[in-house]
Amino acid sequence: MTVFHTDRLILRPFEAGDAEELHQLINDFDVASTTLNIPYPYPEGGAAAFIARRAEIDQEGTGYTFALIDKGNHTFMGSIGMTINNNHKRAELGYWLGKRYWNQGYATEGVKRVLQFGFEKLALNKIVAAAMTKNPASSSVMKKNGMTYEGTFRQHFLKWDVYEDIAYYSLLREEYFK
Ligand SMILES: CC(C)(COP(=O)(O)OP(=O)(O)OC[C@H]1O[C@@H](n2cnc3c(N)ncnc32)[C@H](O)[C@@H]1OP(=O)(O)O)[C@@H](O)C(=O)NCCC(=O)NCCS
Repeated sequence: MTVFHTDRLILRPFEAGDAEELHQLINDFDVASTTLNIPYPYPEGGAAAFIARRAEIDQEGTGYTFALIDKGNHTFMGSIGMTINNNHKRAELGYWLGKRYWNQGYATEGVKRVLQFGFEKLALNKIVAAAMTKNPASSSVMKKNGMTYEGTFRQHFLKWDVYEDIAYYSLLREEYFK
């Protein structure tokens, strides 16, 4: 079981008991609208199903999903996930936080720890992340973590009947260890 502590956060695997708080925070138009695959409204029972599936993926070694917990009061705040392509030693990050926690540097702090895990423990070669071009906060999280803008895939995702331009950022192993 992989658990990390940063200055202000605990990153730990999801537990069945997180389902209610997860639903409360994720069932928010503003959280869902800039993500590639969070629905709104979030379905009843969706949180429990999501958590159950995370444990399976952990077992399969094709991904890790961390619950972000406030170190001070142990409140659930959001999530950072990493999907791994073992053939290419590459991972893709995704993340979200409950709206009340935005713009306080939490995503940047959590992503930094997950990048460290990916390169130092999992020996990945490349970690990428993608954001809608209309989501500067997410791009900022990547840039603040030293990731390089690779380019924009035009109209690459269909979200709620709109084709969205998606900007890709990445960090290479050789850059991380430089
Ligand atoms: C993206 C998200 C995870 C960022 O989390 P966060 O904890 O607020 O991120 P941080 O505080 O670490 O960094 C956000 C940065 O974006 C900046 N920012 C926020 N809104 C912005 C805007 N409209 N334009 C430009 N910059 C903006 C903030 O100022 C901050 O930068 P700074 O530290 O240099 O001031 C959060 O906004 C979120 O959950 N959004 C909904 C889900 C989502 O879009 N997930 C990403 C999918 S790729």
